[in-house]
Amino acid sequence: MVMTVWDLGLAQLVQLIYKKIKTSAFEFGKSLPFVREKVQLEVEKQLRGIESSMLGSAEERAKYNKFVVLPPKGLSEEDIMNELTQYQKMAKHVAESGKVSGAVYNGDNNLTRIVNEAMYKFAWANPLHTSLFPGVRKMEAEVVAMTTKLFNGDANTCGTMTSGGTESILMAIRAHKEWAKQYKNITQPHMVVPVTAHAAFDKAADYFGIRISHVPIDPDTCKVDIPKLKKVICRNTILIVGSCPGFPHGVADDIEALSDVAIAHDVGLHVDCCLGGFVVAFLADAGYPIPPFDFRVKGVTSISADTHKYACAPKGSSIVLYRTQELRRFQYFCAPNWPGGLYASPTIAGSRPGNLVVGCWTAMVYKGHDGYVQQAKELVQKVLRMKEAIKSHKELFVFGDPAISVVALGSKVMDAYRVGGLLVERGWDIGWIQFPNGVHISVTALTDAEAFVVDLEGVMEQIRREPFAPPTGAAKTYGAATSIPDRNLIDRLARGAIDLMYKPL
Ligand SMILES: Cc1ncc(COP(=O)(O)O)c(C=O)c1O
Repeated sequence: MVMTVWDLGLAQLVQLIYKKIKTSAFEFGKSLPFVREKVQLEVEKQLRGIESSMLGSAEERAKYNKFVVLPPKGLSEEDIMNELTQYQKMAKHVAESGKVSGAVYNGDNNLTRIVNEAMYKFAWANPLHTSLFPGVRKMEAEVVAMTTKLFNGDANTCGTMTSGGTESILMAIRAHKEWAKQYKNITQPHMVVPVTAHAAFDKAADYFGIRISHVPIDPDTCKVDIPKLKKVICRNTILIVGSCPGFPHGVADDIEALSDVAIAHDVGLHVDCCLGGFVVAFLADAGYPIPPFDFRVKGVTSISADTHKYACAPKGSSIVLYRTQELRRFQYFCAPNWPGGLYASPTIAGSRPGNLVVGCWTAMVYKGHDGYVQQAKELVQKVLRMKEAIKSHKELFVFGDPAISVVALGSKVMDAYRVGGLLVERGWDIGWIQFPNGVHISVTALTDAEAFVVDLEGVMEQIRREPFAPPTGAAKTYGAATSIPDRNLIDRLARGAIDLMYKPL
């Protein structure tokens, strides 16, 4: 589901470097000039390897036209469409196979067609100009209002639309930070998140200069350990966080317990429902109720829920909700003295793609309450089926007790990445979770749960036949990446791989 640098072959690089410079020697000698030089040479060499796995071999690249300067004359429609058809065929995995974790959430071709038509009607709309696009303003306000109701907000509950889960999280944290500065005079803000909370919280801490504490989870339930969380709260804490569910294991933290802590310490509580918000809000009606996680819980001050995941809206939309209109106002940015005019905007972007608002509104009113309830029911049934299949293999365990939209497997007797590697050989595109190693699958409308059951059976039979075979392919490379002790090296390699993303063929 997550497009990580590992997908780009970075792990291969780590593995090779790691092989050449053994861990202990590396730890001891990384400060020595000749070791540094060797690492540098290896990094450069292996980045060339990543380049070829990401961009293809020289022969593959030669098949495509290149557009690194503007074509002197514009292309015909036919030529453009031919180019696009070739680019569509570049992908090795397609979500329609039923074997892709997350990524594409909608499985209804009719919805795809209607959303595209709707977006076409508003192709050039920009919500920054409310007077030019009043219909888009209306739809955006309605998308937020509908979501507010789903999370049991009251008349004061409100929110904004953003470009995705990360931006929703950034905005919620900015609002709490500014609120705490104004009302509690906190100038050295601190926040507390479960280790399983999405990396977007670390991004927010990095962007906004907030100290962040990561709290371990209970190893059995995979929920954040509340007593440990309480211990790290201090007088500068502005916010604590719970996920419902968290990305790695698909498990919801105990939001009611977190709420008690938030109220007792007078801090905000953000509930991250980015991934499964449009599943959990319908679970009770689908016949699979879970403990309260939304504005019914007193201490919850903000919630993020991505429309571009299980709401089946096109990519580029999410909602951040606040218990009070006052808190939302701290999210906004205003520059009243700008010579270009009085400037004010709700989120990070200035101009925004209005057609995405339209696509989101269309998906929501097309599916309606019943459509999402039905989706939630089917997702939970698939998760339960996959969970049961994992548990039927004594070598494996399921992380926590998930029953929403994600299932993750691990093992105490073998490297779970070996299972992942063999699933990949059978056509699966999975998530590689770490600390400890595990295989994550975000289940969607497209997921073929029965294929998973059959493929897992085949994988486990193969492992029993060849118990000592080393991990191969992706399993080998991901394994090497998680076992490398120097995470700064991983950081350096990741940045190199991102550079490569911007290299034309
Ligand atoms: C729990 C959770 N929070 C936040 C995010 C970030 O969402 P986005 O990738 O849309 O920025 C994700 C993405 O998978 C997620 O699973």
